[in-house]
Amino acid sequence: MSRIDSAINIDDLKRIARRRLPKIMFDFIEGGVEDEVGLRTNAEAFRAVRLVPRAYRDTSRREQRATLFDRTFASPFGIAPTGMAGAFRRDAELYLAQAAAELDIPYLMSGASNASMEQGAKLAGKNLWYQIYGARDRAVAADLVKRAIDCGLTTIAVTCDVPVSSNRERNRRNGFVRPLRMTLPTILEAMLHPAWVMNYYRAGGLPMLGNWQPYAAQGATADQVADLFAQQTPDPSQTWRDLEAIRAAWPGKLLLKGVMHPEDARIATGMGVDGLIVSNHGGRQLDMMPSPLDMLPMIRAAVGPDVPLLLDSGVRRGADIVAAICLGADFVLTGRATLYGATAGGLDGVRKAVAILRREIDLVLGQLGAVNLAALGPHFLLDTVRAEEERRNSGAMAARR
Ligand SMILES: Cc1cc2nc3c(=O)[nH]c(=O)nc-3n(C[C@H](O)[C@H](O)[C@H](O)COP(=O)(O)O)c2cc1C
Repeated sequence: MSRIDSAINIDDLKRIARRRLPKIMFDFIEGGVEDEVGLRTNAEAFRAVRLVPRAYRDTSRREQRATLFDRTFASPFGIAPTGMAGAFRRDAELYLAQAAAELDIPYLMSGASNASMEQGAKLAGKNLWYQIYGARDRAVAADLVKRAIDCGLTTIAVTCDVPVSSNRERNRRNGFVRPLRMTLPTILEAMLHPAWVMNYYRAGGLPMLGNWQPYAAQGATADQVADLFAQQTPDPSQTWRDLEAIRAAWPGKLLLKGVMHPEDARIATGMGVDGLIVSNHGGRQLDMMPSPLDMLPMIRAAVGPDVPLLLDSGVRRGADIVAAICLGADFVLTGRATLYGATAGGLDGVRKAVAILRREIDLVLGQLGAVNLAALGPHFLLDTVRAEEERRNSGAMAARR
């Protein structure tokens, strides 16, 4: 049995990925910012949810298909954008794209990916979405939108939660900054992962940021393209006007990623954004952010029942996905969970991550007494059940008086 086959849950895939990667690389995936309060906030929000099952409901025919933007996907989750995935495993983004097509879930390719959207679209077709970071040179965003149209993509997302870089202390301590400043202990530790080191150097070192290569000088190295990306993003001068320009140029479905404030949710939907990704960037931006799960009911109330809401940050279990749907999400994205899979085992690793989450969703649906996603809702949450019982009991008391 391969290591991937033996993985029972997402944490097992994480352990395999950690063993494979030098610490400097694993820390880049795993790390949050500053005191990493955000990472704990995200995990604790899911751990605090309590679901109350219903008995004796025939759940022998369960299914987890989810419809989003006129498309029905095989599961209610897709793959979140994770930049530089090709550094963790060469061609990781191509594996993510291939798996997304094969397993019929969406893959939102990162604006900082190593593979290009053209490569991704060839593999994933309509299952490929693309994520854009606003750049200082507005012509770059405009061209990325044009390329997405030329690729025949249906959906793009603009990420709004990186106005400035974040204070990722693990990366600074490890010397994972631009230009790379690896310390001696970091280099020695990397030697304990010879397979990754050999692959990395055999493939030519730092992989190219595929989507950004066209904006660099001809013949630019991967390092030079990464420098260009770092000069262009983040761009703190971005405003709603920039989103408006993308909305005007993009005829397909537009998602805004990183919305946390209900007022921003209202502004975005008011200007024609088709759906929101409620996200705190997996605890990688502002450390003191609440969890998206805690914001979700407020955002749902702010935008009403019809605006598609996606959620990410902290999802490691099928039960987390079910909980997010009960709290008002239509769909969920996984960042690290699927990236652990890609890092641990390439295509097989992504397949495994998706299979684990699917199986867990299926079991939780059965245990709750829900045959499909439409059967889910706040009525499975302990808080709702308690409030409803208190309401009934106080009604009964009043009638007795
Ligand atoms: C290694 C890594 C790279 C990321 N790169 C991007 C990116 O390029 N663009 C983006 O919008 N979000 C990026 N994110 C954030 C994810 O899209 C997503 O919001 C987050 O990972 C969700 O949290 P989770 O990892 O706990 O599932 C990145 C996350 C990780 C872990």
